[in-house]
Amino acid sequence: MATIGLIGAGRIGSQVARLAVANGYDVVLSNSRGPETLSALVAELGPRARAGPPLDAAKAGDIVVVTIPLKNYRRVPVEPLAGKTVIDTNNYYPSRDGHIRELDDESTTSAELLQAHLPKSSVVKAFNHIYAVELTGHAQPAGSKNRRALVIAGDDPQAKAAVARLID
Ligand SMILES: NC(=O)c1ccc[n+]([C@@H]2O[C@H](COP(=O)([O-])OP(=O)(O)OC[C@H]3O[C@@H](n4cnc5c(N)ncnc54)[C@H](OP(=O)(O)O)[C@@H]3O)[C@@H](O)[C@H]2O)c1
Repeated sequence: MATIGLIGAGRIGSQVARLAVANGYDVVLSNSRGPETLSALVAELGPRARAGPPLDAAKAGDIVVVTIPLKNYRRVPVEPLAGKTVIDTNNYYPSRDGHIRELDDESTTSAELLQAHLPKSSVVKAFNHIYAVELTGHAQPAGSKNRRALVIAGDDPQAKAAVARLID
C-alpha cells in the first residue's frame, strides 16, 4: 500500500494525512471547495502530498478515507472505489447532517449507508471515536506501554486486516 486517498481534508482528514506522510505513504487530498484551497496543507505535508478533486483521490488511493459530513456521503465517487478498501470515519450528527430516517429508527448504521452507496467496495469503519487532535497527539509505535486502542468494524476480513496494518 503506497497511496492513501482522502475524500475530505478537514480536522480528521488532515490528521490522517499527517500520520500517513510521517509513516512513508503518499497522500492525495481532496475537499468540496477544490484543490487550490488545500495548498497550505500540501505545503506543510511536503513532496509526498498532492491535492486534486475527489475523483482523483478516489482513483489514486490504494486505500481511500472518506471523512466528510455524513450528509454528503452520496457525493462520494462510486466507480473509482470499486474493489478498494474504504475507511469511513463519519459520524451522524442530526444538528449538522439533518435527520436521516434509517439512522433515527436504527434500522441501519452510518457505515452501512456508505457501504450501500459503494456496493463494490469494502467499507471499514475507523477513526470515528477519536478526536482529531488525538490522532497525532496519542500516536505511539507498536509495542508501546499503554498504547491507545482504536476500534474498527466491517464485513470484509481482508479489508479489516489492511486497515489494522495501516493503523498499526
Ligand atoms: N473532528 C473530530 O474530532 C471527529 C472525530 C471522529 C469522527 N469525526 C467525523 O469524521 C467526519 C469528518 O469530520 P471532520 O471533523 O474532519 O470534519 P471537517 O473538519 O468539517 O472537514 C470535513 C471535510 O470534508 C470535506 N467535504 C465535505 N463535503 C465533501 C464532498 N462532497 N466531497 C469531498 N470533500 C467534502 C470538506 O471540504 P470543504 O471544507 O471544502 O467543504 C472538509 O475538508 C465527520 O463525519 C465527523 O463527524 C470527526
